[in-house]
Amino acid sequence: VPSVEVRRLTADGIPALAREVDRARAAGEFRASSDPAAEFFVKSAAVDPGLVAGAFEGDELVGFVSAEFKVIVVRPDRRRRGIGRALVKIALDSERARGRPQAILGVLPGDASTTAFLRATGFAFHSTLWDLDLPRDSAVAEPVWPDGHAARPFDRRRDVGPWVRLFNAAFADHATPLQLDESFIVAGLDDPAIEDADTGLLEETVSGDLVGFSATAPVRHGGVVAERGEIWTIGVRPDRQGAGLGRQLLRWGVRRLRAIGVRDVTLAVNGRNERALGLYETEGFVRSRTRERWARPVEREAPAVERG
Ligand SMILES: CC(C)(COP(=O)(O)OP(=O)(O)OC[C@H]1O[C@@H](n2cnc3c(N)ncnc32)[C@H](O)[C@@H]1OP(=O)(O)O)[C@@H](O)C(=O)NCCC(=O)NCCS
Repeated sequence: VPSVEVRRLTADGIPALAREVDRARAAGEFRASSDPAAEFFVKSAAVDPGLVAGAFEGDELVGFVSAEFKVIVVRPDRRRRGIGRALVKIALDSERARGRPQAILGVLPGDASTTAFLRATGFAFHSTLWDLDLPRDSAVAEPVWPDGHAARPFDRRRDVGPWVRLFNAAFADHATPLQLDESFIVAGLDDPAIEDADTGLLEETVSGDLVGFSATAPVRHGGVVAERGEIWTIGVRPDRQGAGLGRQLLRWGVRRLRAIGVRDVTLAVNGRNERALGLYETEGFVRSRTRERWARPVEREAPAVERG
């Protein structure tokens, strides 16, 4: 058996990652991740390779992990050799280095082998993520904003900093906390498949302060918008939550996606986030599938049964 080295990815590892992601996607091994169709993962890794760690045999990539995308994959002919364990270890190290309290990975309900692996490596069930679809014929009203507020498209020349701060404030107490880094957004702006107007910002017109946003993630191939598109995130500043702004932001996102040609609008929401789930269902979204989230605290010692 050739020796395996586990390390954070660097830019020169991206082509090997892209090949292995193609294999894994075809085998259905991305379906439990944060990016079930594996549309954004390689692009994000190209922007920030440190989001991914790889297991290498020479130049060959035989496994990878990304807690950010909640995915871990070992090539089928290399399984049951401890590579998964080694990838978990490096994922915990990098989550700890980023100040995250836990590493979270995804698994499909009923996937007995991945569930056995997660248990064996110290993970415990955390929550269920719901995938929701909006039927094509469901009417979604035009958003109405409170007096003194207006929605406008994101503008990369002035909004990056304020939007990232709003995003991180809105998600600080989320079930699986999501925190963005400004440099990541800046680097991603070079991607021709992402347009500023895919994200709407709600501002107080007098102060110019941002109080909410709706970020959509349509898929574009060569400028053509795919039939299926996602509301990636909506967020409201903590002091303005619970006053109906989220519903209006959701409507903004649905209408934006439909306006550019998306027919099947989808989104995913953590089952612990009951208020958001209720909001989406009352706007017509229907539950379709679930993905499980399993978590392991980063400080915890390895279980006694673990090797090495
Ligand atoms: C899950 C996965 C990453 C595990 O990788 P791996 O390199 O085979 O894992 P390891 O060899 O480090 O296994 C560690 C322990 O997990 C448990 N385990 C792993 N695979 C198992 C299986 N198929 N059945 C039962 N237990 C299993 C065992 O306890 C194992 O220790 P042991 O070999 O000493 O008994 C790999 O099977 C895989 O890529 N699966 C498909 C990808 C996927 O669906 N990922 C979902 C996450 S989004």
